[in-house]
Amino acid sequence: MKRFGVLTSGADAPGMNAAIRAVVRSGIYYGVDMLGIQYGFQGLIDGKIEKMDAASVGSIMQRGGTILQSSPSDAVFTDEGKESALQTIKDHGIDSLIVIGGKEAVQAAAVLEESGVPTAAIPATIDSDIPGVSEVIGFDTALNTVMDYIDRIRDTASSHEKSSIIEVMGRDTGNLALWSGLAGGAENILIPEKKEDLDSIVEQIKQGPSRSKRYSIVVVAEGSVSGIDLNERLKQEAGIESRVTVLGHTQRGGAPTAADRILASRLGAYAVEQLMNEKSGVVVTLKDNQPEAFSYHAVHEQAVQVDEYVYNLSSRLSI
Ligand code: F6P
Repeated sequence: MKRFGVLTSGADAPGMNAAIRAVVRSGIYYGVDMLGIQYGFQGLIDGKIEKMDAASVGSIMQRGGTILQSSPSDAVFTDEGKESALQTIKDHGIDSLIVIGGKEAVQAAAVLEESGVPTAAIPATIDSDIPGVSEVIGFDTALNTVMDYIDRIRDTASSHEKSSIIEVMGRDTGNLALWSGLAGGAENILIPEKKEDLDSIVEQIKQGPSRSKRYSIVVVAEGSVSGIDLNERLKQEAGIESRVTVLGHTQRGGAPTAADRILASRLGAYAVEQLMNEKSGVVVTLKDNQPEAFSYHAVHEQAVQVDEYVYNLSSRLSI
C-alpha cells in the first residue's frame, strides 16, 4: 500500500483546509494510506505526524487557516534540516509528499524532490506571487475581504468627504492591491511593480479636488510604500490628511469563498492523481479552467508579473 504525506507551509491562506480535505479523501479513494504532517516542514523535521482518515477532514472545508498548523519552510533549506526531513520520510515509510503553500513552499518541495522524494505542490497564498501560476488558493477570498473593507471605508469616506489610504498585504507583489483596488473602484493604486509612479500618483491625489473628487480611496500595496508614510507625505506636500487603515491579518482569515473551495478541491485531487501516475516535481494549477501540472523548474525560470492592462485600466476608470 502506498503512503502519502501532506503538509501546509508558510503563511496560511483561506482554502488550505479544503485542499487538505481533497488530498486526504482522494488518497483514500485510490487506496493510499494518508499521513498529515503538522507545523509544515519544521514538523516534518521534528516527526510531528498523524494518520488521517476520511473523518479527520470532515467539516473543515468552510474554515480558514489550516488544521495541520503551519510554519516557515526555512529549516529544510539547511543540510541538517533536509537530512532530518529525509530521515522522517524514511522512518514513516512516506512514498510521496504533497505540499500546500506559497513560493517558498514550492522551493522547499523542490529541495526534497531533488533528494529523491516524489513531491507535488499545491499553490496557496493570498499574495498570488508564484511565478507563472495565476490560479492560487486563497487569493479570491482575500480579494473579496479587501473589497468588502474598501466598500465599508468608502461609505464613511464619502459621508465625511475625507480621504482614506488602505494598506493591503502582498509582500513584494502588488496583485492583491491591484485587483482589489479595481474591484473597489479605488481612485489610486500603488504597487511595488510601479514604484516609479509614486510621484505622479501623489500629484494626482493633490489634484483630486480640481477633478471634482471630494474624497479619494487610495489602495497601497505594503511592498510599495507604507500607508503611514504616504499620509505623512500628502500632509506635508498638500495639506491633505487621510485616514490610514492597515488591513493586516484580516486579509488572511475568514471562510474561503466558493471559488477557493472549488479550486482547492480540484487541485487537491489533481495533485494526488499526479503522484498516482508517477508524475512528481510539479505545481498544479488551472489553465483555461482545466487542471494543469508544470515542473518546478518552469516556475523558477519565470518572473512574477502584474497585469499591465489592468493596472492602466484601473487608472483610466478612476478619472
Ligand atoms: O504571504 C502572506 C502574507 O500575509 C503577506 O502578504 C505578508 O507580507 C506576510 O504574509 C505577513 O507575514 P506575518 O504574518 O508573518 O507578518
